[in-house]
Amino acid sequence: MDGPSGSGKSSASKGVARALGLRYLDTGAMYRAMTWWMLDQGVPVEDAAAVAAKAGDPVLESGTDPDAPTISVDGADVSGPIRTREVTNAVSAVSAVPEVRARLVALQREIIGTGGIVVEGRDIGTVVVPDAPVKVYLTASEQVRAARRAKDLAADPGATVTVTQAEQARRDKLDSTRKASPLTMAADAHEIDSTELSLGEVIEAVVRLAKEQT
Ligand code: DC
Repeated sequence: MDGPSGSGKSSASKGVARALGLRYLDTGAMYRAMTWWMLDQGVPVEDAAAVAAKAGDPVLESGTDPDAPTISVDGADVSGPIRTREVTNAVSAVSAVPEVRARLVALQREIIGTGGIVVEGRDIGTVVVPDAPVKVYLTASEQVRAARRAKDLAADPGATVTVTQAEQARRDKLDSTRKASPLTMAADAHEIDSTELSLGEVIEAVVRLAKEQT
């Protein structure tokens, strides 16, 4: 399942995995964990060569239980710290570096193995698993996406809907215009616009597609 930030991918992917008894992988969390580590190490994240030189260093581990997804770096749980605005605003620069993508795509393919998993991200249907049996591209209007993100960031007083919308527009632009695997819809993906749909309706639509196609 691919799509821009705030389209509802995480809740929908987890819901689909639960409904179908599948594993779940949040690839965005892996890019966030890599970014968190770079910031923690003092690597200048806008310097692509510096990021590339360190891309192989952190040990990343992702748990695939949709009821308790986990992400750790060098053995430490980073599920909380990877959701801060500091990481969110730096992640596009780090994820545009080809060496970072090559490392994380290889890890993702290892975890995916022969399948039985719902994977969410930006390049899953186009690059990571081009032969996935079911591809979904989830969208929603910019306002609805920003409102959802602001809700996620409710603990941060600076993250108003207006600020979140501006930060999100910047991130979406960077993610869709970067050279290495930009966010695009796979030709054979099913597009679902979740603007007017409840979470339950999105999950139901994806489960229906999965049952039709597998
Ligand atoms: O889904 P998310 O907002 O947690 O993703 C964080 C960032 O990671 C996103 O801005 C772009 C990057 N990303 C990526 O480049 N490729 C993916 N497959 C998943 C995320």
